[in-house]
Amino acid sequence: MSHVVAIKDQVEAAVQAALSQALPAELADADPVVRRSDRADFQSNGPLAVAKRAGRAPRDLASATAAHLAAPTTIGGAAPAGSITPEVSGPGFLNLTVPAATIWQQVAARLTAENLGVATSRTGERTVIDYSAPNVAKEMHVGHLRSTIIGDTLARVLAHLGAEVTRQNHVGDWGTQFGMLIQFIDEHPERTWQGEGSMSALDALYRAARAEFNSDPGFADRSRERVVALQSGDAATLATWRELVAESETAFQAVYDRLGILLAPADADGESRYNADLPGIVDELTAQGIAVDSGGALCAFTDGVVGPDGDPVPLIVRKKDGGFGYAATDLATLRLRVDEYRATRILYVVDARQALHFRMVFDVARRAGWLPDDVAATHVPFGTVLGADGKPFKTRDGGTVRLNDLLDQAVERARAELAQKDHGLTSEEFEHVAQSAGIGAVKYADLSNTRTKDYVFDVDRMVALNGNTGVYLQYAHARVRSILRKAADAGVTLGVPVDPALALHPAERALALTLDELAATLDDVAETLEPHRLAGYLFGLARAYTEFYDQCPVLRADDDGVRANRLALCDLTGRTLATGLDLLGLAAPDRM
Ligand code: ARG
Repeated sequence: MSHVVAIKDQVEAAVQAALSQALPAELADADPVVRRSDRADFQSNGPLAVAKRAGRAPRDLASATAAHLAAPTTIGGAAPAGSITPEVSGPGFLNLTVPAATIWQQVAARLTAENLGVATSRTGERTVIDYSAPNVAKEMHVGHLRSTIIGDTLARVLAHLGAEVTRQNHVGDWGTQFGMLIQFIDEHPERTWQGEGSMSALDALYRAARAEFNSDPGFADRSRERVVALQSGDAATLATWRELVAESETAFQAVYDRLGILLAPADADGESRYNADLPGIVDELTAQGIAVDSGGALCAFTDGVVGPDGDPVPLIVRKKDGGFGYAATDLATLRLRVDEYRATRILYVVDARQALHFRMVFDVARRAGWLPDDVAATHVPFGTVLGADGKPFKTRDGGTVRLNDLLDQAVERARAELAQKDHGLTSEEFEHVAQSAGIGAVKYADLSNTRTKDYVFDVDRMVALNGNTGVYLQYAHARVRSILRKAADAGVTLGVPVDPALALHPAERALALTLDELAATLDDVAETLEPHRLAGYLFGLARAYTEFYDQCPVLRADDDGVRANRLALCDLTGRTLATGLDLLGLAAPDRM
């Protein structure tokens, strides 16, 4: 595994060393605070930040640090190593410029390294990610869409960084509602639901069953008996339940396949899987005194969690009627994930409205000893998708928006948008691109928004060719690929050694330094679990590339060496964009 140390990290280490030389020993670990800068490659605010504590004038401390830096600090690894050029500025900043040769060498190193030189910084971690989790016999709604898209990106990024990732689809496949639904299906054999459109049919059946349950006490009684039959393993009831699950999972899988989501049938560990564990969960919590009787139900409480009325909020582990709740099942998921999957980190990508639920579940599991201190459990919440009216996204008549309709609409809009361009694709290729662009647009719009914020679902904006959209990034990638193709057609061999002795144009410099930030960006996403940081990075990269391409002729460069260096930058840009798009779960077509 060849890991390429980012230039910024090298600069940081060099400035840290120089700064500590200029400081008394007790301040030797002062943070050099190195950032990218507009005035030079980087800026260090370290001297300014620590000057007061050191009892020094900031500019003096900055000069002293600069003097230590000037004694050639070699960076860039292989020869010719260069030194950082420091310049004291303002109240005590250091502007830092890296030699051109170091930057060219870095480009070359990333091009030849495995995985573009990104370190597998998460090696040894075992992360379980709970995401998607649609409900059997119900259509997936936009909330599931967000969980699916965000969870999948996190799974991709963490695996890319070397973590062992276990995907868990906690399908809602159990509960008293199935007694009612199965009873209704039995009593209405004329209402077929299998096959094409089964989810809409089941959705309708479910609503009809609910209405009858509410209006017909006889049916309500028969439904309750059915719940008992289901729970005690009655063969005929179980058979229908299995059909419901199988049919729903087929429908979910079709959605995952269309969206390019990694989830496969083997990743499903539905709620029903935990049935047998629930009595044990309750017994242990009772024995430990964590769960107590509260008005007939068995509940656990978390210190400091109170409702608006000031009363403690209960986590219901067993309901008054003896049934186990959602919370008991989630406690069981933690045990399985710790004991069997040996997780070191567990993520639950679920709607922000369930924050309190997870806070209490994690707290109870820790107290019960099921969640050891060295295992991190994190709720990864997300905001609501809103309609143009600023209210939760619904159809005109208030129903859930069918995912497939929504994707069809995005593909259609992307098709219209792309057709305006002169693309030179066969109609088959064009259709493929339109699919990639439309679906990518929906995913990117979701991922590029701050995860915890609500956002408005606006198809027209999502498919725009300009602005921070998936289509814009896919285009940027295709443009790079097209230049590389042209170079190959003209007989220019790619991968010619980069010449580090050549001058570096400011736009080349800016692009190269941005290309060098992929690993830091991915580490940041893995830490914060915020995919929009990767989206923002790719958008910035695409813009840096555009700037470079406007200012630096590539194929028409009048020197073979210059052209080779610029092609290397194009190549690295293309591969960085492709990697980033793939980690966001977007296709990166070669031609658009
Ligand atoms: N099926 C649930 C729903 O549709 C989401 C489950 C989330 N995951 C979990 N482990 N609780 O709201």
